[in-house]
Amino acid sequence: MMENEKDVVSVHVEDRIAWVNFARPAKRNAMSPTLNRRMMEVLDELEFRDDVGVLVLSGEGTAWSAGMDLKEYFRETEADGLRGVRKSQRESYGWFRRLRWFQKPTIAMVNGWCFGGGFGPLFACDLAICADEAQFGLSEINWGILPGGGVTKVVVDLLPMRDAMWLTLTGDLIDGQQASAMRLVNESVPLDQLKDRTRAVADKLLAKNPVALKFAKDAVRRVNTMTYDEAEDYLVRMQEAANFHDKTEGRKEGIRQFIDEKSYKPGLGSYDL
Ligand code: ACO
Repeated sequence: MMENEKDVVSVHVEDRIAWVNFARPAKRNAMSPTLNRRMMEVLDELEFRDDVGVLVLSGEGTAWSAGMDLKEYFRETEADGLRGVRKSQRESYGWFRRLRWFQKPTIAMVNGWCFGGGFGPLFACDLAICADEAQFGLSEINWGILPGGGVTKVVVDLLPMRDAMWLTLTGDLIDGQQASAMRLVNESVPLDQLKDRTRAVADKLLAKNPVALKFAKDAVRRVNTMTYDEAEDYLVRMQEAANFHDKTEGRKEGIRQFIDEKSYKPGLGSYDL
């Protein structure tokens, strides 16, 4: 059966959470050029919607994503020569990058298989929660390539060198609990609790100042490669930019509700938006 181009990604917005799914379960959600193009369109549609405060990326069926589609992403684009290869690379790296710097906070909800190229969107999401039953692997070595498309950079950024090297050279699988212990994800819960737990984390984020969230998430990624002095300067400038963008003057309101109104304690929770 021919795949409908729009159906390779599913989207459902509810209570300010955009639930976005890889939706090629019969192909274990492998990322084809069609899926990559559709995902970029979906991110475009969702990014500045007022009724979306958090994006959750998950997968339909038994996979989160089985990585790049070996037939459609590699073999078929290679048949089109360098022009085809570069185009499909731009399309996949393009939406990974877009997701890394997405306006709203993002959560990877890893429900099952996560292989190779899947580590790109996994890293692009700000937080990651997985099922104990999920399985992660850098299978590239098993079919004779290195983890490219940024994947080696992802594991070196996220993991200690020994773990990064082990996964890279052996292609061994790790389950959700192991991925959590390794800090590849924030936490792992039984599959039947995955959605509830993810919703609870999303709700926590929805209660925060959205401008502060965007500047804070970008800061965490940006300062990583800066010297201390550069980071200090960058963070001062970014807070000043955030003050400009936050038309609610949330920072002053947060202080007012604590100091004058005594309606909350910042150490224990958020001010009332
Ligand atoms: N690319 C293309 N097709 C895929 C991929 C993929 N990455 N993963 C699964 N499929 C297809 C299979 O070819 C099969 O298609 P068919 O029904 O037309 O024969 C279908 O999805 C189902 O796959 P099965 O292997 O039958 O599913 P199973 O549940 O037994 O196994 C598993 C799942 C372990 C994910 C297996 O499909 C697999 O090993 N996939 C490849 C994983 C991988 O190495 N990905 C590439 C990483 S490297 C990179 O991304 C650069």
